[in-house]
Amino acid sequence: MAIREILEAPDPRLKTVSTPVEKFDDELKTLVEDMFDTMYDAPGIGLAAIQVGVPLRVLVIDLQPEDTDAEPEECDHGGHHHHHYPTKKEPRIFVNPEILDPSEELSTYQEGCLSVPDIYADVDRPATCRVRWQDLDGTVHEEDMEGLLATCIQHEMDHLEGILFIDHLSRLKRNMALKKLEKARKAA
Ligand code: NI
Repeated sequence: MAIREILEAPDPRLKTVSTPVEKFDDELKTLVEDMFDTMYDAPGIGLAAIQVGVPLRVLVIDLQPEDTDAEPEECDHGGHHHHHYPTKKEPRIFVNPEILDPSEELSTYQEGCLSVPDIYADVDRPATCRVRWQDLDGTVHEEDMEGLLATCIQHEMDHLEGILFIDHLSRLKRNMALKKLEKARKAA
C-alpha cells in the first residue's frame, strides 16, 4: 500500500499514449492497490495509471455512492441539522478497456481531474457506451454503462490516449485553465 505522486498538467508525461497490459502479475496488483490508495487519499472518483507516471492501460474508478442500506448519520454544519448516508466503497478495476459503441446522444457533466486540480468545466460526451475490459486475472468482461459511470470511464480512457478533459475545451478556455493552474502552483 502506498500513495503515489499524481502528475499535474502541463507535465508532458500526461500526453503519453499508454500501452496494453500483457502481464497479469503481482506488479500489476501492486500498481492497482497503489492507484486506489492514491485516488481515495486525493480524493477522487477515477484515476488512470499514467496519472501516477505508469504508461499502462489501467484505470480505477469508485463513484462512492451513498449507502442507503446503512444507518443515516446525523450531522450539523452551517448551523443546520440533517441526516445523510455514509458513502460505500465500490472499487472497480479496468485493465485494457475499450469503448465499443458510444451513443450518438450526448450528456454534459461538469468534470474535474486530479491532474488538473481545482479546475472544473462542462464536457459533452456520449451518454451511454458499452465497455470491454480485463480484470486482474486477465478475464474479459463487458458492460453497458450510463450516467456518471459512462462519463467517468470515457474521461479515464482519454488519459490512456494522452488526452485531458481540458483538451475538449476551446483553446481560450484551456489556456485560462492552464494559467490558473500555474498561478495556484506559484502561490503554493
Ligand atoms: Ni482525469
